[in-house]
Amino acid sequence: MQAPAFQTGVIEVNQLWKVIENPPNRVEILRNITFSVPRGQFLAIMGASGSGKSTLLGLLAGLDTVTSGRIVLDKTDITNLREDNLARLRGRKIGFVFQSYQLVPTLTAEENILLPAELSGYQGDARRRAKDLLERVGLTNRAHHYPIQLSGGEQQRVALARAFVTQPPILMTDEPTGNLDSANGQHVLDLLLQLNREEETTLILVTHDRQLAEYADRILTLHDGRILRDEMAERRVSEPELPEPQVEA
Ligand SMILES: Nc1ncnc2c1ncn2[C@@H]1O[C@H](COP(=O)(O)OP(=O)(O)O)[C@@H](O)[C@H]1O
Ligand SMILES: [Mg+2]
Repeated sequence: MQAPAFQTGVIEVNQLWKVIENPPNRVEILRNITFSVPRGQFLAIMGASGSGKSTLLGLLAGLDTVTSGRIVLDKTDITNLREDNLARLRGRKIGFVFQSYQLVPTLTAEENILLPAELSGYQGDARRRAKDLLERVGLTNRAHHYPIQLSGGEQQRVALARAFVTQPPILMTDEPTGNLDSANGQHVLDLLLQLNREEETTLILVTHDRQLAEYADRILTLHDGRILRDEMAERRVSEPELPEPQVEA
């Protein structure tokens, strides 16, 4: 099915269901989810544990198949894409940061960052970009260290740099600070926001942490697989907003 031409969000989710049938059991993990994410938006997906956040993110990323409904990513309907096309699309369009950093243990920090660029055939100067990103996350002097030689916070900063290496238009993160203490979590979050702003990516952040979600432009709250609330932030708390233009009555 073609996406209607009026759909303009970088992510369009339409009447999405994810149901696991395991007779006699039937689990409705996601129930009739519809929303649209404009380009450049920072969207937080919140909800209690088990509400369906990770399942939704996995579907948005094309890592899992929908039961029914449709997902359009940057004008491509991914719902019925073949795995090889999906993998190529993921490589070009999406960066990931997971709670468990998922670095390759046998590769150095720099090699880990370069990996998505190699896998996706990134056209830019990947080595230069990796060096630049290492500097931006404050790990230039750890470039040749292996993950086991890095702290949790450092590993997550490598994972951040890796997610940005191909300059993806969409960044998806699932509880990216969940395994970190609050100081390291804040540092990773600050870097994430800074990179996100500089690179003008659309950011989807899954979290159960209200404090983290408060940084977002918009918060989508799931409850038992349904959208409970969809709220725009009044203002970002991470930095002062520019004053609203004064309009004379
Ligand atoms: N493959 C599966 N089979 C059956 N139930 C599942 C499966 N995957 C997830 N679930 C259930 O779906 C619900 C949502 O899971 P999940 O998306 O991981 O929630 P969250 O990330 O919000 O904690 C949970 O109740 C979970 O147990
Ligand atoms: Mg989860």
